[in-house]
Parts: sequence; structure tokens; C-alpha cells
Amino acid sequence: MKILGIEHIGIAVEDTENRSPFWEHVLGINRTTTEIVEHEGVKTDIYNTGKGKVELLKSISDDSTIEKFLNKKGEGIHHVCFEVDNIKQAIIELKEKNISIVSENPSIGAEGYKIVFIHPKSTGGVLVELAEKTT
Ligand code: CO
Repeated sequence: MKILGIEHIGIAVEDTENRSPFWEHVLGINRTTTEIVEHEGVKTDIYNTGKGKVELLKSISDDSTIEKFLNKKGEGIHHVCFEVDNIKQAIIELKEKNISIVSENPSIGAEGYKIVFIHPKSTGGVLVELAEKTT
């Protein structure tokens, strides 16, 4: 697989409105999109530095993974996302190497990216997302 760079860092927040001023006004990073990802039960606010993004993740569903994460660990870094050139190829390679992935097939995440998550047990405790741009 070919990693093209760090795409974003996903951060779980209780409330995006409380947390946005730090990213937007203290660090001065432009918010580029706000999007509901219905099947994951989250609202995402994306801030783009131009060299990697910050994705604030707020739960909008009681059984979302972000809700569970917040209940267990509180606010903070939830995952790190790397951009890949070909996600299907990446999944094949991960399976060949017995790396534990959260789903066998890519799903559609924020910004329409094709995404897959690698289980923290295979990475030393970090939830890793791989994403392929679709446009
Ligand atoms: Co993400």
C-alpha cells in the first residue's frame, strides 16, 4: 500500500460549538466543512491546515462509537487517518499480514472518502483510519 500522508486527526468532543473557538480562533484554522455522517451517528467539523486536517467528532446517536468512546475515555484524540492511493489494495495487504480491521469492506466517511479502520489491538493502542479520496 502507498501512504500519501496524514489526512486528519479525529478528535471526540462533547460539543463542537464549545470546542470550535480553539481551532478556529486561537489556532486560526479555517473550518471547511460541517457534515452529518448518518450511518456513523456523528457530526463532523473539519478544519484544514493545508497540510493535514483536524476532524471534530460529536455524537448524534446514543449507540455511536463516539458516544461509547466519550463515556469510556472522555474528550480527546480518537483516531489518526492516513490517506492511501488504493484502499481495496490496502485492505488486501492488511488481511495478508493478519492485521485486524474493523470491517472487510470500505465504507463512505466524511467528505465522501472511502475509509476503513484498523483495530487498536494491531497498532499499539491507536485507532488508525485509512482513507482514499474519491474525487
Ligand atoms: Co476520520
